[in-house]
Amino acid sequence: MNDPVLETRHRVIFGDNKRMLDIENESVHLMITSPPYPMIEMWDKQFRELDDQIDSLWHELEEELNNTRRQELVSRIYDAMHDDLAKVWKETHRVLVDGGLACINIGDATRKVNGVFRLFPNHVRIVEQCEKIGFFTLPYILWKKPTTKPMYKGKGAFLGSGMLPPNAYVTIDCEFILILRKGSPRQFKRKDPTRYASRYTKEERDRWFTQIWEVIGMKQYLSEVEKRVAAFPEEIPSRLIRMFSVAGDIVLDPFLGTGTTLKVASELSRNTIGYEIERRFRSLIERRFNEVHTGKSAKAELEFIYR
Ligand SMILES: C[S@@+](CC[C@H](N)C(=O)[O-])C[C@H]1O[C@@H](n2cnc3c(N)ncnc32)[C@H](O)[C@@H]1O
Repeated sequence: MNDPVLETRHRVIFGDNKRMLDIENESVHLMITSPPYPMIEMWDKQFRELDDQIDSLWHELEEELNNTRRQELVSRIYDAMHDDLAKVWKETHRVLVDGGLACINIGDATRKVNGVFRLFPNHVRIVEQCEKIGFFTLPYILWKKPTTKPMYKGKGAFLGSGMLPPNAYVTIDCEFILILRKGSPRQFKRKDPTRYASRYTKEERDRWFTQIWEVIGMKQYLSEVEKRVAAFPEEIPSRLIRMFSVAGDIVLDPFLGTGTTLKVASELSRNTIGYEIERRFRSLIERRFNEVHTGKSAKAELEFIYR
């Protein structure tokens, strides 16, 4: 179905995505990413390492004994994490073409702070930050994960007399795929051949342009590194790329991780740019890319840049 663009170019930049100096203004057509999720424990360390303000607030929290002050400090850490991510959304806005789209996969977080169960609605914060930057919010997708156990007082299981109201919490079994646009819809020539060659089927349209997606994670097939970095299943970027870009476009993933977006986009004849802070992922990214391109006639060039 997709136009066989014969040559594509793929750049992985190992460096901080808050200043994407390798990318010109208004040169990217689509951004797809999944950032570290604020207030999800597995990402605490990396947020601290990459942002001094977050680290010093965390030190204060470790010293603080007063419960009210501790709750306030956690709220300030949460704010600071979103201020940190907002720098990437701002850079994304700069590099997107007019009509370019940003798709952000994000989950909300729950956490107990001094015995108090709290929800950190990350998707709300990202929408608010992006609107301040100048993005327009479009209808979003709820990615429904296979259901885990319902929550009782913050624990992933019913405890004791688990049918009694009112203290159980709704289980978080969806993540969000936020869809935001810079400016007005992209313009194309009438009957643009690349656009027509990139079209999806009616059946695909009916399945994809609906608000709830049940895409299975396939955790059992992921390597340890992919699990550790919470890689998304290929089906997620694959659908988004086909829905929101045409062959030959440039797709950016500023939190590239193990290179899922790059692999899938290159397979779909899109050019890519990815930013990643962890240099150790190079061999995995390269291996996944080669799985797709070795022995194929379409030329796909992969380049690693260190900043
Ligand atoms: C949730 S993971 C992305 C997983 C990816 N979607 C995949 O399928 O493998 C987030 C990634 O962002 C990277 N990262 C975090 N902060 C970064 C920064 N400031 N600059 C570049 N990469 C960053 C992390 O190292 C991690 O690999």
